[in-house]
This record gives sequence, structure tokens and C-alpha cells, in this order.
Amino acid sequence: MLFRSFAATLFFAASAAAASAADWRSRSIYQVVTDRFATTNGLASPCDPSARKYCGGTWQGLINRLDYIQNMGFDAVWISPISANVEEETAYGDAYHGQAYWTRDLNTLNPKFGTPGDLKALSSALHDRNMYLMVDVVVNHYAAPPTNISEKIPQSFDFTSLAPFASANDFHPQCFITDASNQTEVEQCWLGDASLPLLDIDTENPTNFEMLRSWIADLVLEYNIDGLRISAARYIRQSFWRDFTGASGVFAMGEILSDNISYTSDYTQVLDAVLDYPTWFTLVEAFSGAKGNFDSLMRTVLESQEKYASGLCMTGSFVENYDQPRFPSFTKDESLIKNAITWPFIHDGIPIVYYGQEQGFQGGAAPSNHESLWPSDYHVYQKPLVQQITDLNAVRKLAINSKQNFLTTQMTFVPQSNDNAIAISKPPLLALLTNAGNSSTATWTIPGNAGLFLKGQTLIDVLTCQSYNVDPVTGSLTVESRYGLPQVILPARYLDSKGSLCPGAAQNSARRVTINHLSVSSVAILVGLIATIHSFI
Ligand SMILES: *[C@@H]1O[C@H](CO)[C@@H](O)[C@H](O)[C@H]1NC(C)=O
Ligand SMILES: *[C@@H]1O[C@H](CO)[C@@H](O)[C@H](O)[C@H]1NC(C)=O
Ligand SMILES: *[C@@H]1O[C@H](CO)[C@@H](O)[C@H](O)[C@H]1NC(C)=O
Ligand SMILES: *[C@@H]1O[C@H](CO)[C@@H](O)[C@H](O)[C@H]1NC(C)=O
Repeated sequence: MLFRSFAATLFFAASAAAASAADWRSRSIYQVVTDRFATTNGLASPCDPSARKYCGGTWQGLINRLDYIQNMGFDAVWISPISANVEEETAYGDAYHGQAYWTRDLNTLNPKFGTPGDLKALSSALHDRNMYLMVDVVVNHYAAPPTNISEKIPQSFDFTSLAPFASANDFHPQCFITDASNQTEVEQCWLGDASLPLLDIDTENPTNFEMLRSWIADLVLEYNIDGLRISAARYIRQSFWRDFTGASGVFAMGEILSDNISYTSDYTQVLDAVLDYPTWFTLVEAFSGAKGNFDSLMRTVLESQEKYASGLCMTGSFVENYDQPRFPSFTKDESLIKNAITWPFIHDGIPIVYYGQEQGFQGGAAPSNHESLWPSDYHVYQKPLVQQITDLNAVRKLAINSKQNFLTTQMTFVPQSNDNAIAISKPPLLALLTNAGNSSTATWTIPGNAGLFLKGQTLIDVLTCQSYNVDPVTGSLTVESRYGLPQVILPARYLDSKGSLCPGAAQNSARRVTINHLSVSSVAILVGLIATIHSFI
């Protein structure tokens, strides 16, 4: 234990805030809404999301619960916005997480979540565990309630509460976006509405632009941030992003909320990564029931692989987030939920799990999907989704560590004759997913000429530890899953008899020495050596 934290400290001391896109690619992200994840003292007052009030979660509360996140195998945490928000109650409640990012002062932290020292402590606590910190930022707009609600547009605002953008000239002239297909309007007009307008920062103004660049550079250094999630990226001109994220010096993943791949793909030219929204739309539909359309899901993946700057490899893959209804609000069928949850881990991109997914939370559209996590008591035993997510993180890490180029080899599909089955190959993994539901048996066939496995080879589904044999003559594989459950299969020889995944099924008795995935530097090699020595103690 001593050795491990010593090694982690060394690694981070040397790599200081320089996590690159390639470093992020191997990571697995857990997304939290700070106000709803954990309280400082562990007290668990009831939190009613529909009240839209602060519920008491803090950065210190999050520090206290990092074991819960890390034990599931996550090695990055994405936290909700940190900047000071509108303080008064608005027409849409409190700015408890800045759902709509109601910034009023970029240079001050939201005191509800803790002090600057607390945020630094969170960053250090994560780095001590070799985990990354991703911070959610928005630079498109501020928020301010109008001073006179009966006034027509343009409305008046009290600019004294805003900083550093504190005059009408710092913002575009007021007009609300009415035509989302008009990109000029999307970039120049305002989000929000007359009861809570979101003041659109004039990001073309060179002084404002320079202020935003130096703000992000300072923020990243001050809090030792490893990556950014950029909200509302489509609302600012594309040329802004390269300079802005360049100034930050860290990985940036943008939110382009659209199902149009031609549209989202443009942003992959200027940002390290984008959230994989086009796939999300088809994936939720595909897994919501037996009528779901796997063809459409596959087409979206293939088109994105072709159009995106780095294929789908530089995307964030997710089933849920704080802007969208949780998946179990679409179906209560646990088998369908388990199939959908598997998707991001077999995908080309970086898997992202939204807090509460592991506990089976069911909240619908915001704010219902901002439940507090504390009623779960952070229990992990007899929580099937906690176990499944832990296994999925473990098998992805195993694949990363044992197969060169796993992360950059694009996923492919093995055609199935059954409309309710989809087979996804990302060697050495084969995911067999289905939307047949909990009352059906699903069947997949992988022909020998797919060339995925050797004749007679023994394979294991790591979610159930069930084994299968590839046909010794034809090389084909037929798999049946009762209750419509997902399967994640790989050759048994990859498993370790001392590992966490199906140790009883491992064919390898010798302990494999796995060097953690670290960037190449002498320090990384040193850490690898220390980790190796440690693993023999
Ligand atoms: C608020 O705006 C309305 C409409 O312009 C105006 O009639 C009213 O006098 C304003 N109220 C105050 C307190 O300025
Ligand atoms: C798009 O929006 C801009 C700004 O509101 C407007 O000037 C322009 O006419 C719009 N273009 C079209 C094609 O509607
Ligand atoms: C998709 O985006 C492209 C590029 O922005 C645009 O030309 C096209 O009209 C959009 N398609 C739809 C259906 O909105
Ligand atoms: C099985 O599916 C049905 C219908 O989708 C659902 O009502 C039921 O709760 C599910 N049962 C389980 C254990 O998932």
C-alpha cells in the first residue's frame, strides 16, 4: 500500500497537469453532480430533486467517498460546474448544480461546494489514487434574473453581481435562439428565456477572448485539473475552441447536443473529443425494448467512425447524464438496463457512467434525474449493477493491458440473423447484446469465417463466468443467453487465476505481470517497476 501511493505521487509530481488525449483514452469516467453525490459530514437529509434546491453535497463529501468510485474501477471523475452561480432563487429554482450553468463570476468558486482549498484537496486526493479530475466548464454565457420581469426585450440586468464580464457590452445584444438550425443565431443569440435569460458572452471580442483564455489557463494550473468537459460547445464559433483548449493545455471533451453526425463531426476537428450524442439517441431507442432498431445503431457507429477526426476513439460514450432522462425511466426491464449499461465499455470511446446508474436510479427528465446518492448508503453488496460495472471496467482494463492497439482498433459488428441481437467485436472482446428482454432467450451465431477465435478455443463470458467452446471443426460459436442478459466474451487464456474476473475459469496459472497503462517516460517506467515489485510482495 505504501509503495503504491508513493509511486502514484511520484508519477503525478512529474507529469503535472499534462494529461493528454491519449492518456485520457484508457480512462473510465464517473460523472457526479457535486450537490447530490455526498455531504461533508455524511449526514443524509432528504433531497427532493423536484424542489430544485441545494441538497448539501460538497467536494469534501466527494473526497470522503472516492473509495466507492475507485472500487468500481473508475480512474477519472467528472464534476459539475464549480464557478459562482446566481445566488438568488430564480424562476427555475436554485443554481444547485448549474444545470443550465448560471455563472455570475468565473473567478470565484461556488461556496456551496466548499473552499478553494477543498477543491485543491479533491484534486490531490484523486491524483494520489492515480485518478484524473475533469471539470465541467461553460464559457458561452452567464445568467442573471432580469431586474424587471415585465420589461420587454432587451431586458435590464444588474451587472454589479457579475464578474469579470460586468457590462452590457461584454455580451451579445439580447435575442433568444428560435431557429436552432441557423448557426449564426445559435452562436450570436441567447439561450434561456425571459424569466431567466442566459447572457451570451461576446466571445468574438478580443478582450473577452483573451480573458477567457487566461482564465482557463489559470484555473487548470491552480487546481491541477486533468481535463475539461465543455458545455454548450456548439453555441460558440468553432475557431474559438482550438485556441481556448490550447490555452488550457489539457484534454477537452465538448458537448454538441445533436443527432446529426455531419454537424457533430465538424467539432471533432477543433476539440480533442466530443460526447457521442448521435449514438446515444440511437442506443437508447435500440435497447428500450424488443422493437428497438439495432440497424440504426450500427449505421450511426459506422458513419461516426468514418466522419470523426479520430473515428469514435475520441468520444465520450454514455447511456445517461444530467441533461437526459435516466435509462430506467424508459424501461424497467433489468435485462435491457444491463445490456444498455454494457455498451460504453465495448465502444471505441471513453466510457462514462453517471452517478446513480450503478444503484439503478430511475429519475426522468431534469431535475428528476438529479437524485441525491445518499439514500443508497453507497452500498455495493447485492447491487447487481455495481457488480456489472466493476466487471466491465475490469475487462476493459484487461483488454487494454493485454492487447496492443485495443484502444485504437475500431469496433466492428458481426451480422446476426436475429433482429434482437447485436454482436460487437473489439478484440480480444466480443460483446453479445440483445433487446429481447428478460422473458426471452437470446441467441447469437459467430461464423468461423469471422476469424475472431481459434477452432476449439475456450471462451468465457466475464459477466456470468459461463464458458463456451468454439466448434473444433467449423470454428463457429453459438451462444444462448436466458433472460435476455448481455455477455462479454473473451478467450479464457486472458484471465488470471488471481484476478477479479472469473478466477476459477482462468487457464493461466502463472501470474501475469501487468504494468499499468501509463504514458511513456522514465518516471512511468519507474512506477511500473515499483508496481511490479509491489505485486510480488
Ligand atoms: C417594469 O417594466 C414595465 C414595462 O416596461 C414598466 O411599466 C414598469 O414601470 C417597470 N417597473 C419598474 C419598477 O421600473
Ligand atoms: C440567421 O440568423 C441571423 C441572426 O439572427 C439572421 O440575421 C439571418 O437572417 C438568419 N438566416 C436565415 C437564413 O434565416
Ligand atoms: C446536418 O448537418 C449538416 C452540417 O452542418 C447540415 O448541412 C445538414 O443540413 C444537417 N442535416 C439535418 C437533417 O439537419
Ligand atoms: C421484466 O420485464 C418486464 C417488462 O419489461 C418488467 O415489467 C419487469 O419488471 C422485468 N423484470 C425484471 C426482473 O427485470
